[in-house]
Amino acid sequence: MCGIIAYVGDREAQPILLDGLSRLEYRGYDSAGLAVHTAGGLRVQKKAGRIAALSAAVARQPVSSTSGISHTRWATHGEPTDANAHPHLDQSGNIALVHNGVIENFHELKQALTLQGHVFHSATDTEVLAHLIGEHYEKLATLSGVARLSAAVRAALGEVDGTYGIAVIHRDLPNVVIGARRGSPLVVGIGATEKFLSSDAAALAPYTQKVVYLKDFDFVTLQPGQFDLQNLGGRDTDYEIKELDFKPEAAEQGAFAHFMLKEIFEQPETIRNAMRGRVDKDTATAHLGGLNLTGEQLRDLRRIIVLGCGTALYAGMVGKHMIENAALLPVETDFSSEFRYRNTPLENDTLFFVVSQSGETADTLGALREAQRKGHRALGICNNVGSTIARESDGGVYMHAGPEIGVAATKSFISQATVFALLALKLGRLRHLSASAGGEIIEALEKLPAQVEVILQQSDAIKNIAEKYADSRSMLFFGRLGNYPVALEGALKMKEISYLHAEGYPSSELKHGVIALIDKKTPSVVIAPHDSLYDKNMNSLQEIKARCGPVICLTTCGGRDTGHLADEVIKIPQTLELLQPILNVVPLQLLAYHTAAALGRDIDKPRNLAKSVTVE
Ligand code: F6R
Repeated sequence: MCGIIAYVGDREAQPILLDGLSRLEYRGYDSAGLAVHTAGGLRVQKKAGRIAALSAAVARQPVSSTSGISHTRWATHGEPTDANAHPHLDQSGNIALVHNGVIENFHELKQALTLQGHVFHSATDTEVLAHLIGEHYEKLATLSGVARLSAAVRAALGEVDGTYGIAVIHRDLPNVVIGARRGSPLVVGIGATEKFLSSDAAALAPYTQKVVYLKDFDFVTLQPGQFDLQNLGGRDTDYEIKELDFKPEAAEQGAFAHFMLKEIFEQPETIRNAMRGRVDKDTATAHLGGLNLTGEQLRDLRRIIVLGCGTALYAGMVGKHMIENAALLPVETDFSSEFRYRNTPLENDTLFFVVSQSGETADTLGALREAQRKGHRALGICNNVGSTIARESDGGVYMHAGPEIGVAATKSFISQATVFALLALKLGRLRHLSASAGGEIIEALEKLPAQVEVILQQSDAIKNIAEKYADSRSMLFFGRLGNYPVALEGALKMKEISYLHAEGYPSSELKHGVIALIDKKTPSVVIAPHDSLYDKNMNSLQEIKARCGPVICLTTCGGRDTGHLADEVIKIPQTLELLQPILNVVPLQLLAYHTAAALGRDIDKPRNLAKSVTVE
């Protein structure tokens, strides 16, 4: 949600900033801008629309510069216009600022500054912060150079309520960038003679493998040959230089038409990566050392609560079925955004899992902190190493899915579901699950990557189905038990990238109201693997057909063939009932992808969305 990239070094800054922005574009893409130091002062260029529009503007009037800041926006305050794009300048025009987050008290600050004669040119909260920094800068005339700018930024941030990841420059301080964070991610990239600041480490991968993930209230001053990291109060703070855990190619689109398609096709590897080194065939269990809990502590648990948003929550709902079945341990799931404000009755011996690909989702971070505030242990299932949720949780499991750039989450779902399967196995084996049952789960898990490959080979057939139904106004998705969250996820994917109205329901809910929506023009996707509820799912399918609703049936190979009852059949390999949701989601991702492609949608950058929702 908004992307920041800043550079100081010995290379031309503009191409690096524009390249970085294009790598961060998935975080927001309604407008973009940059400010660089030049011999004649600051050069600011901003454009509504995609980064290509900014690149074209820069190409028309390039300047030579070796330091600057830049931003790609997902609007919170003010429409996506040139004026509202970042960077914003202070009253003097000497200080430029880019910002990710929300300044909650910007109205009060703006009023006070207006009374002091400040004139604003945008509707943003960010411009208010730029002016506030400028106001303090004027008052700090006894200081000079970097010390004066640092003191002004610190003083201004001290007056701000809300969240920020910022990068600031002053026209008189070429090759100096100041950064600070509270609630919005920032990563420092370290080269010998150049330094970077970015909202996401993935954007730094082509330039450096050495990074420092900033913590809340960190305050960093970057210069080409050095960086100085303190806290907002001016004290030195601990930090660790980390090596990126992926290569630059992992964040490239390669030969695929879209990142989303690339990430769908990466899923066999995603499953392998989530399982690597974690399965112990001898004892028929899983090793998840990061849980930081002894076998005894895990056995004594009475309840698990899983929190997340969107796709991450749906993966958690799949996890609920897995854990309850394999370990007979009660699991509840909740939206992070609801849990954090709810009076949830909580008992001792409750363990929380917060699930987040980015590790930066504001609602999930808030829920994690709320669970911890209430004295509970909260573990993370995260992809981004070094993210705030990964750092603040009391342990957890990394997904190792590599960068997910497509705004619609795909491989992260499969990765999270695989992690939950491992967790279910581990918890099960600490309880009633026999070694032979544990062994069966491991054997089935190991077959999943090849089974996903088989589904991926049907991409063209699924494309034909997608094209046939792409002009529908609405699509319904039905599934039961572990496949109910898969129905929700299939519907979410369809909504997000094709803009078709779509809803997911437990199949059995059909007759309790949803059936009123069935007609010739409303296709239903019925997830009906050959499992314990196959016949019941077939009843739902027949009820839809009886009302002339087109049916796309997702079923498994083998077993009784009632597929002829449906208009379209997608047959996929069968696995254990516990693990079937992991396979079932793949055709639904492809169905959404090909529908969106048939409709000519901007698949990797769907309207109004942004990846990593770092505001509430
Ligand atoms: C759906 C999607 C969102 C995210 C949700 C949580 O395609 O991308 O629903 O799943 O915003 O994001 P993370 O997992 O980063 O916390």
